[in-house]
Amino acid sequence: MPTLIDRFGRRIEYLRLSVTDRCDLRCSYCMPEGFKGFEEPAHWLTFDEIERLLAAFARLGLRRVRLTGGEPLLRGNLPELAARLARLPGIEDLSLSTNATQLARHALALRAAGITRLNVSLDSLRPERIERIAGRDVLARILAGLDAAQAAGFAPIKINMVAMRGVNDDEIEDMVEFCMARGFVLRLIETMPMGETGRNAQYLDLQPVKARLAARFGLMEGEFPGGGPARYLRTPDGRFSVGFITPISQHFCATCNRVRLSVDGTLYLCLGQEERMEFRPLLRRGAGEEELTEAILQAIELKPERHEFREQPNKILRFMSMTGG
Ligand code: GTP
Ligand code: 5AD
Ligand code: SF4
Repeated sequence: MPTLIDRFGRRIEYLRLSVTDRCDLRCSYCMPEGFKGFEEPAHWLTFDEIERLLAAFARLGLRRVRLTGGEPLLRGNLPELAARLARLPGIEDLSLSTNATQLARHALALRAAGITRLNVSLDSLRPERIERIAGRDVLARILAGLDAAQAAGFAPIKINMVAMRGVNDDEIEDMVEFCMARGFVLRLIETMPMGETGRNAQYLDLQPVKARLAARFGLMEGEFPGGGPARYLRTPDGRFSVGFITPISQHFCATCNRVRLSVDGTLYLCLGQEERMEFRPLLRRGAGEEELTEAILQAIELKPERHEFREQPNKILRFMSMTGG
């Protein structure tokens, strides 16, 4: 059986599956207030279609699947889908990225379904700031979601903080202390120019922040398990790690191992490029295993070398919520 190796020698083993493009929040860097361009439900891949396609991927060497959105918990019966994907032969790692507003209700069922690793978006610890960034007053619900996730046994739990100049950059040290105290891994993320919201976000170069945190908290270079692009610092005892996701100041495309499947069955080969392949038509006319395999191999050939967020910051018109954060 062939494996998924692209034109640049990168092994593709991680698929980010966006199960919905809807969200209950409107984070300023992600989706504009009043956004109306959602995919119609008839175009959403069904669980059967997702399972067929991911089974074909798994036979080609896919090992990791991350459920994303939009906000994935808005998709009905998500634990059922998770359980089906967790059972696919070859899939060793099933994870979820969520804004956690509804996590308190769903944490146990998701954990029981086989999701182990959890990433939660949290850009501030101040209620009024969350309201300003996300457009809704939801900090208390997110914190309740985190409590429930810890009680349900998710490990590790990573906190994703999009760092924005003049918005929340004065809170980075507070967030380190919060994560240290709670046993969370922190990841700081540079804003990417996706759609006009991403372009308008207050970009902050994280390289100086990295040096500052290393000095202040006595951190050293280290690794942390995961499949993603973060580069980590950790305390000498290894009990706390902070990752830096720096697509702009130090991109990580040379080691990219992933593709993204959106809710309508479009496979995007790169977050910051337009190369894509539509799988919904194939799935809906009942394509068999061989045909799906052939289409996947063709799609992987399209994967571009890297994004061009720096060189062409106005290029990507789609919002992050469409491709999966
Ligand atoms: P782990 O498996 O835990 O390492 O997850 P991850 O960091 O890949 O996933 P997560 O959903 O937490 O992503 C965190 C941030 O990294 C999001 O803002 C993503 O958009 C960004 N990100 C993830 N993968 C890529 C990528 O391939 N390219 C770029 N430019 N950004 C990415
Ligand atoms: N730039 C960087 N990260 C973004 N996210 C959404 N929009 C952007 C953007 N423009 C990420 C955040 C959030 C996840 C769901 O998507 O990390 O935590
Ligand atoms: Fe929703 Fe996540 Fe986008 Fe915020 S970043 S609007 S929580 S999809």
